[in-house]
Amino acid sequence: MYTPAITGTGVFTPDQVITNAELVTAFNTYVDLYNTENAAAIAAGDMAAKEHSSEDFIFKASGIEQRYVIDKSGILDPHVMHPLLRQRYDDEPSLMAEMALDAANKALAQAGKTAADVGAVICAASNLERAYPAVAIEIQELLNINGFAFDMNVACSSATFGIQAAADMIRSGSIRSALVVNPEICSAHLEWRDRDCHFIFGDVATATLIERSEDATGTYFEIKSTRCATEFSNNIRNNNGFLRRSRPDGVADRRDMQFMQNGRKVFKEVLPMVSDHIAGHMADNGVQAADLKRIWLHQANKSMNDFIGRKVLGRTPEPGEQPNILQDYANTSSAGSIIAFSKYSNDLQAGDTGLICSFGAGYSVGSVIVQKHG
Ligand code: COA
Repeated sequence: MYTPAITGTGVFTPDQVITNAELVTAFNTYVDLYNTENAAAIAAGDMAAKEHSSEDFIFKASGIEQRYVIDKSGILDPHVMHPLLRQRYDDEPSLMAEMALDAANKALAQAGKTAADVGAVICAASNLERAYPAVAIEIQELLNINGFAFDMNVACSSATFGIQAAADMIRSGSIRSALVVNPEICSAHLEWRDRDCHFIFGDVATATLIERSEDATGTYFEIKSTRCATEFSNNIRNNNGFLRRSRPDGVADRRDMQFMQNGRKVFKEVLPMVSDHIAGHMADNGVQAADLKRIWLHQANKSMNDFIGRKVLGRTPEPGEQPNILQDYANTSSAGSIIAFSKYSNDLQAGDTGLICSFGAGYSVGSVIVQKHG
């Protein structure tokens, strides 16, 4: 048995930002246009008028202040209301591969390694640009990695489930190392015309290099233990998937083809599931709340994270103990906890223990207990 370790992480952040103010202005213009266009049907009671969104609501309900996106022009155009993503040709890198590559190169640089040191690529994300060939194999090809690659999808928990898969293969000796990449183009499966959720998501890509600890050349986080759990629920669902090119092309555009959620139920049902999961994982590994120097949580909602932080530590976390990045990035699905880990882990000391945890659709929850070395 070998000991798996996180030796490098990387984050690709798109260069376009949408503030809450910009988002709400565009949305409210869209609502006014919609209500004017459908004035007769609304007056006759055949259609419901749409209501304005508000910056105040968004910040209070979620803690989100802005989000990065691949294309803001389409999202903020009240006549379009979705990102305009150019269809890539088959002989050029796909968008997800390109984003993941940037994050992967950063993770390799941090670890002081090259692609020659990597044995596998797992592309773990909540939506995939196509079914096959796997995006992971394309990334493998672009990086010139020997070995194998595959895609997996466990929605917001994809990264921690990917880390468990990689860690298990490293433990068993079937591979020496793996890159787990999480390219999340959430803007392409979000319904930007629905005020209940239009503020939730952003785009990003993260990468985590996992190696045998004996191969680490610098400081690293030993993966002490991983645990995954799932429980079926329809409360977060997407019946179509990815990269909508509907209205301009005249393709069907049903509401259920984009991200749908019953936010209140998710809030109520996922919180106990996650708190119990973390408590059980810690107890089985002899980790006490006082042993945890940091928790890096999935970034969906600030109140949810504050609640989980309090449950796990048994008190309100001190500033910095449970870093949030969702005010800047919004919910980036599987990438959220890895962004937090990547940006807020360098200052930990050798021997410090921390916990990465993601949760979301499925329902799914994954946790990783790590300890700093070197
Ligand atoms: N602007 C203004 N008002 C809004 C609004 C907006 N953008 N969106 C909703 N509202 C209104 C609602 O219509 C509702 O009005 P009502 O009380 O008159 O019916 C009120 O604000 C409360 O809406 P609700 O949806 O119940 O808000 P909430 O406090 O539950 O917060 C979420 C909404 C989505 C932020 C919250 O439920 C949540 O974070 N849930 C978990 C989400 C999650 O983790 N999802 C996982 C995704 S991977």
